[in-house]
Amino acid sequence: MDEITFRSDTVLSDVHLYTPNQRRLMVRLNGMGQPVFLSQFKLLWDRDSQTDSGAEGSDHTEGTPPAGTVCSHVGASLQAGADTTTPEGLAAQLDEDGDLDVVRRPRAASASEPPGPPRDKVHPMILTQEEDDILEDEAPESSPYNVIKIEHTMATPLEDVGKQVWRGALLLADYILFQRDLFQGRTVLELGAGTGLASIIAATVAQTVYCTDVGADLLAMCQRNIALNSHLLASGGGVVKVKELDWLRDNLCTDPEAPFSWSEEDISHLYGNTTILLAAEVFYDDDLTDAVFKTLSRLAHKLKNACTAILSVEKRLNFTLRHLDVTCEAYDHFRTWLRRLEGLAGGRLRFAVEPVDASFPQLLVYDRIQQLELWKIFVEPITEPIVSVDTASRPFS
Ligand SMILES: C[S@@+](CC[C@H](N)C(=O)[O-])C[C@H]1O[C@@H](n2cnc3c(N)ncnc32)[C@H](O)[C@@H]1O
Repeated sequence: MDEITFRSDTVLSDVHLYTPNQRRLMVRLNGMGQPVFLSQFKLLWDRDSQTDSGAEGSDHTEGTPPAGTVCSHVGASLQAGADTTTPEGLAAQLDEDGDLDVVRRPRAASASEPPGPPRDKVHPMILTQEEDDILEDEAPESSPYNVIKIEHTMATPLEDVGKQVWRGALLLADYILFQRDLFQGRTVLELGAGTGLASIIAATVAQTVYCTDVGADLLAMCQRNIALNSHLLASGGGVVKVKELDWLRDNLCTDPEAPFSWSEEDISHLYGNTTILLAAEVFYDDDLTDAVFKTLSRLAHKLKNACTAILSVEKRLNFTLRHLDVTCEAYDHFRTWLRRLEGLAGGRLRFAVEPVDASFPQLLVYDRIQQLELWKIFVEPITEPIVSVDTASRPFS
């Protein structure tokens, strides 16, 4: 396979869009025949001292890739077979019979398209090495503790978006790195984990992380990413359990025949110990957003302890013909749910919502655009007796 052309009904994450073509490394085809790529995201941390190893604010230190890029460190022998033909290089050639061989101008070089790599094509290189070789082929100065390796696909149809890495996962992972103490020794549940990036980062400090999503193929990819990064996981804990959790179903799947199903032991551990819930970039469709919030509420009611949900969202602006204006409907729907939760009265739980200031130092390399937001929802049981207004207004009766 020389090149992949994106279909018009596919979506591509900005994280992958801004990766230079020659940095894309295709490692295999997944169970659905989709090309799988390996990217490495640099961690600007000092794992042992748990201090920032040079990242100041959101500036990138020398040698650090520019914002919005992914570090894909591979040996020089693994150069991608990018198309290097230039307009100047175009020349009439004759074949063996003396006929004219027309060399067509590459699309990206046409006058109607901007310079730079074509947006609709990638030129993956199929690695012929064994996986172990690939992992050993990193730049020598790069410690295995300073990168997280993620297998992902690109330009998927909407139903497969979890196989790509989204910017919100990087923001959430970044926050976890910044607030390591908050996650120390905790039991964490991630909803819609996709490739598992944020769950893996959480497991560098947490005791147990339930990394959940839907679809055996996606969950298998997630499991593979956890294996690729097992050396990063917290010592004395750092267990990541990949499980199916479908927001559209009321119950967890306990069918032992089903892949990534839950055992009774897991369920009781989950409800008995979880105090942090995570979700990154899962608010892109109103019906799914409804399902996520209902799932959050259902889970919170089952958890033994108070919990905090940490959510990342990207405010995506679209021009709609319906409004003849720029709108961000999916984001607005998300915010409506936050208000609804805060306004809930009469239940067993109290929900308090708080935006997180996203100006903390960056320990991962990505473009932290203004539209990327983090929100916290604190959920705690209501302990004080509910006093009705009538009784309160009659203190001596
Ligand atoms: C845009 S992706 C985000 C993935 C990952 N959190 C990230 O930021 O890279 C949305 C995720 O929601 C998951 N999802 C969609 N519908 C779901 C459902 N009904 N139950 C559970 N997860 C679902 C998708 O599989 C996908 O992984």
